[in-house]
Amino acid sequence: MQPKITFFRLLGLGGIIFLSHFLKFDQLFRQHFTAANQPVGLVDSLLSIMTLEEKIGQMTLFTSDWELTGPTLRATYKEDIQNGRCGAIFNAHTAAYTRELQKIAVNETRLGIPLLFGYDVIHGYKTIFPIPLGESASWDIEAIEKSARVAADESTAAGLHWTFAPMVDVSRDPRWGRVAEGAGEDHYLGAKIAAARVKGFQGDNLKDLNSMLACVKHFAAYGAPQAGRDYHSVDMSEMTLREIYLPPYKAAIDAGAKSVMTSFNDVFGVPATGNTFLLKQILRDEWGFDGFVVTDYTSINEMVAHGVAANEADAGLMAAKAGVDMDMQGAVYYKYLLQQVRSGQISMRLIDESVKRILKIKEDLGLFEDPFRYCNAEREKQTILSPANRAAARDVAKKSIVLLKNQGNILPVDVNKGQKIALIGPLAETQKELLGSWSAAGFDTDCVSLKSGLLAQIKNPSLLQVVKGCNINGTDKTGFNAALAAAKKADIVIMALGEEGLMSGEAASRADIHLPGVQEDLLKAVSALGKPIIVVLMNGRPLILDQVDMNAQAMLETWFLGTEGGNAIADVLFGKYNPSGKLPMTFPKNMGQIPIHYNVKSTGRPFDAVNKYTSKYLDSPNEPLYPFGFGLSYTQFEYSSIALNDKIMTKNSPVEFSVVVKNMGAVAGEEVVQLYIRDVVASVTRPVRELKRFEKINLKAGEQKTVKFTLSANDLTFYNPQNLPVWEPGAFEVFIGGNSLATLKTQFSLVR
Ligand code: NOJ
Repeated sequence: MQPKITFFRLLGLGGIIFLSHFLKFDQLFRQHFTAANQPVGLVDSLLSIMTLEEKIGQMTLFTSDWELTGPTLRATYKEDIQNGRCGAIFNAHTAAYTRELQKIAVNETRLGIPLLFGYDVIHGYKTIFPIPLGESASWDIEAIEKSARVAADESTAAGLHWTFAPMVDVSRDPRWGRVAEGAGEDHYLGAKIAAARVKGFQGDNLKDLNSMLACVKHFAAYGAPQAGRDYHSVDMSEMTLREIYLPPYKAAIDAGAKSVMTSFNDVFGVPATGNTFLLKQILRDEWGFDGFVVTDYTSINEMVAHGVAANEADAGLMAAKAGVDMDMQGAVYYKYLLQQVRSGQISMRLIDESVKRILKIKEDLGLFEDPFRYCNAEREKQTILSPANRAAARDVAKKSIVLLKNQGNILPVDVNKGQKIALIGPLAETQKELLGSWSAAGFDTDCVSLKSGLLAQIKNPSLLQVVKGCNINGTDKTGFNAALAAAKKADIVIMALGEEGLMSGEAASRADIHLPGVQEDLLKAVSALGKPIIVVLMNGRPLILDQVDMNAQAMLETWFLGTEGGNAIADVLFGKYNPSGKLPMTFPKNMGQIPIHYNVKSTGRPFDAVNKYTSKYLDSPNEPLYPFGFGLSYTQFEYSSIALNDKIMTKNSPVEFSVVVKNMGAVAGEEVVQLYIRDVVASVTRPVRELKRFEKINLKAGEQKTVKFTLSANDLTFYNPQNLPVWEPGAFEVFIGGNSLATLKTQFSLVR
């Protein structure tokens, strides 16, 4: 092997280019490039001998036939790999299958350039973690990073290199099903979580065997579709785009994310996939992003339906010119780019830039050194669903649960008391729904149902009676009688209510976000018996819970918690774990309040109960049922002694704020201490509250801690009418507490 490498080295780049026109390099060439001590400039050397078809191949991503997540499917993806016309595949996984496909690319194509394997690993690969919205409710950045780390470890053991995550779209509309995949309504929290997920997926170095390439999506503003309907149009000011929607994408890129996915929606009238302002000005010029940009599924083709391109070929030109490097599934580059380059409609320089970015990532992942390094069946067997991974999933799952109500402290249930429990509801025994949407390779049979979770902790199984009562959806009430009979015999009723896992996620918007079907009726019927009721909610978005609130003594929001769901819920129900989650999205009181979010702008006519002509509804309060940042504990935390070390902040002198938090109850607990500001007077209207800092602390019974936060002028910047970030002198109020309605307050002034 060595003499061949020496031969190519002596030959030099010029010689290689010359010879490549005559020879089929196959094995020889590949060996040159896969040598352990790589030649400098591998990507450039490779680029110099690639044909235009081969280059376009690297810009093409096709799905395998394993999973279908969109409207079209190419039956010929294996031939495309073989012909060098497709450089990346998604929805193919397992060490065995990725090896099979990689062999085609490496052994059967002229240059043997390895494939990149992508997949929607959104909240776990096989060990499924809580849906991202649920995990976000933990406000536990370390745990969230750990969740992504485990997902990367399992995925890379199964041959994958690239996850289409994190999804960082801020959303203020719970009708939009994809809120399940994000971090909720706040961009500050969202940015912290975005960075943690990138770090978790990518690890310290992309070359590490358990690091996978992150793909921040969906760029940009996909979370603001009109009326919460998926794929609908987005229209907002540049000020709002920059201030509210962009920060999490930026945070992900600053954390090192090396790929970005465009979104389906338009921004300022131009679909994101052809949007030069987004992809060139913001992403490349302002943020200095040097990774590659991939489209969402057929989003180039969809620019025809958007009505901004007459045909697919024109749509392809728009995308290529805007800086889209890779076409997911649309086959537009595949079909038209060759001719467009040859006819001079698009420059070879643009193509080369895109191909270089993609090859650079393949190089960073170590694929040129060993294209099969991720296809290790032995590692796959040992890693996937390991006890350590399941333990990590259970840990994040219990931290994601939010205690919404606990009237008369009926929770936790004392498991040693021998009380008879009726577990009622369509989600009582489910394994499948626990997976939520985008559950990658997760199997329902690996999930611990709520029933199994309870049984694992109840000593005498005959104390638990389980009845479904009704389906999640539909009108059938024939199961009500059995449910009522079980409830009558019980000391405590636990009702497992909520949505199907796929009622949120992509293409899963709902116009009415009450509990579906007859579940509210079932709850009311059981409630009429007068037994204490604990409602365990499983859902992928905020729901309208006014009726649930009226008919239950306790409520736990458990989202879809994944593989260890039932165990985690049992931990909380029985007090093994004191709930610490806080809502990452506002829970409205009724449909009319939507869209709703805590950081609304100040209006000229703020709410005034006695003045009709103020901003309010005739038939509803303005306040949500549960505000952003809200969540109870089995103990109570008292906030006092808010203080600051200086009443004046300048550009170079930050201010330190402190507050004393005391655990007033009899059990240890965790609290998310949140700091919000209000800019009292500015040159543009500012939000009534903005989250600026938070810290999750642990306090033993009776313990108190002083929590400190530092803010500087940079934290107080906003966008002016010219869309430039500025900070302005003036008064600021600071609120610290356990949710976005915190009342403990101080103030300071920012001076020049
Ligand atoms: C469409 C979705 O919008 C996107 O999030 C996902 O990554 C792709 N399909 C691939 O499955």
